[in-house]
Amino acid sequence: MAKVKPTKGIVLAGGYATRLYPVTKTVSKQLLPVYDKPMIYYPLSVLMLARIRDIMVISTREDRPLFKRLLGDGDRFGLSLRYEVQPRPEGIAQAFIIAKDFIRDHPCCLILGDNLLYGDSLSGILQRSIPHDHGAKIFAYWVNDPERYGVVLFGDDGKPKDIIEKPETPISNWAVTGLYFYDHQVYEIASSLKPSDRGEYEITDVNRTYLEKGLLEVERFGRGIAWLDTGTPESLAQATIFIQTIEQRQGLKIACLEEIAYRMGYISRQKLESLASDLKQSSYGGYLIKILGEWGKTGS
Ligand code: TTP
Repeated sequence: MAKVKPTKGIVLAGGYATRLYPVTKTVSKQLLPVYDKPMIYYPLSVLMLARIRDIMVISTREDRPLFKRLLGDGDRFGLSLRYEVQPRPEGIAQAFIIAKDFIRDHPCCLILGDNLLYGDSLSGILQRSIPHDHGAKIFAYWVNDPERYGVVLFGDDGKPKDIIEKPETPISNWAVTGLYFYDHQVYEIASSLKPSDRGEYEITDVNRTYLEKGLLEVERFGRGIAWLDTGTPESLAQATIFIQTIEQRQGLKIACLEEIAYRMGYISRQKLESLASDLKQSSYGGYLIKILGEWGKTGS
């Protein structure tokens, strides 16, 4: 049997973020803080928890040097990071065209740079989802305002029957989240798309193509998972409060990339010690020093 190739990761962090103007006139949305860390840390943490370590960050041309300055080549997180440009936000599916030479014939996982996922069962769900080398897997989440998203209609057998982008009359409350797993066919499918009426290469059209081939799996996230997006002032503030509440209650951080890298075995204890010492002026660095001490005691 042919060996399955490792899954490549893409974080799509371009866009104009017009709903956050004037804040995002000069700063990328995905670099804005969600409580104590830049927004892009959250989607990156999801890829890391899925054991994906070869990752491309796609942003606007102006923001690319800033993402590079923040994350570097990924070595401090035990990752290999590279950066590409999406000159204009012409649709989520364009990510696969931009990343063609990066994904080649590997399975790949795309996550939107403004999506925040959190929950106890998340790591297990992610790790069960790779390698996704036959068809596509996406996730649906029950929301109050489905008209803002791609929406899935499920049949009585629990299988997806239809997906519609931003339906005027919602066909269900199951919104498609910004986390997608695809097999090696995704480039070909994305490159055959025509722009939609709003001029975008729609990810919903990629998903519909898989659906029509009978190759789309849609897993429903339950109530134990939080899926937040951060595209409006209200949702950004809510995400910040959510993270602050949980972190302060537990004394544990969400999406602390150095911690995840260490726990997943991507970096050594010595490396974590040196990263923590570089950050020691901040509460973030203080946290790393604290957990190093705790692990020292318990061996966990
Ligand atoms: P959106 O929220 O649809 O777009 P946006 O972030 O530009 O915001 P606004 O609607 O306020 O103008 O995008 C969702 C995510 O996907 C976000 O992280 C940006 C990213 N994205 C791209 O990087 N390129 C694109 O072409 C599109 C459509 C989205």
